[in-house]
Amino acid sequence: MEVIIRENEEVACGMVARIIAKAVRKKPDLVLGLATGRTMEKVYAELARMHRDEALDFSACRTFNLDEYIGLEQDDVNSYHHYMDEHLFRHINIKPGNTHLPDGTADDLKAEARGYEEKMCACGGIDLQLLGIGQSGHIGFNEPLSSLMSRMRDKVLAPETIAQNGPLFKTGAMPKRAMTMGVGTILESRRALVLVTGEGKADILAESVEGAVTSRVTASALQLHPHCVVVVDEAAASKL
Ligand code: GLP
Repeated sequence: MEVIIRENEEVACGMVARIIAKAVRKKPDLVLGLATGRTMEKVYAELARMHRDEALDFSACRTFNLDEYIGLEQDDVNSYHHYMDEHLFRHINIKPGNTHLPDGTADDLKAEARGYEEKMCACGGIDLQLLGIGQSGHIGFNEPLSSLMSRMRDKVLAPETIAQNGPLFKTGAMPKRAMTMGVGTILESRRALVLVTGEGKADILAESVEGAVTSRVTASALQLHPHCVVVVDEAAASKL
């Protein structure tokens, strides 16, 4: 695991966007794993700018998001489907058929989880997986005590996650469950790219990258990833 410290959030986000852009230019049909959350908004804005100003071409790129809330329709403003359209997809030339998010409204969630992993597999697996870290130490929605071998499945959200993401729900209550790629699924990506910014993440970042590998902090499993880069700003790095 390589940890890169940048002076502030803007520089850290710009670096992550450039790493993604370089991977897309090198392999136009890149299979990109995507994450949501406030941390990623500046990265997606920068990728949209690169598409507009630097002809960054996503037309052959395939994407798979990590997770989605259970019970939210795709057009619900709180859904991750909506987040991805708002922050990235509608600003770039990605083909709608090439973007994938789990369907949190599926009647049979087990079948949905299996089908999603099969689609990832049929595309050749994730080349580059973008990740943030939640206050509970989660990656995706792999809450504390998720098996480090886990696959895509539905998870009950931890109280810290409900406290962290609840305020983002302007309409309706935040679902208490989500569909998420498992820790095992994430560890199979060829490269992992983690972005963590802000003082509020300093403790959980230190536990994740310098603490024991434990299912209590699922981000710590990334220490086992053979090719993982963690980009952080000085505020997030303050407890390292
Ligand atoms: C959600 C997502 C995670 C993400 C986390 C961080 O919980 N499931 O994949 O890493 O948010 O959120 P933020 O960037 O808002 O701190």
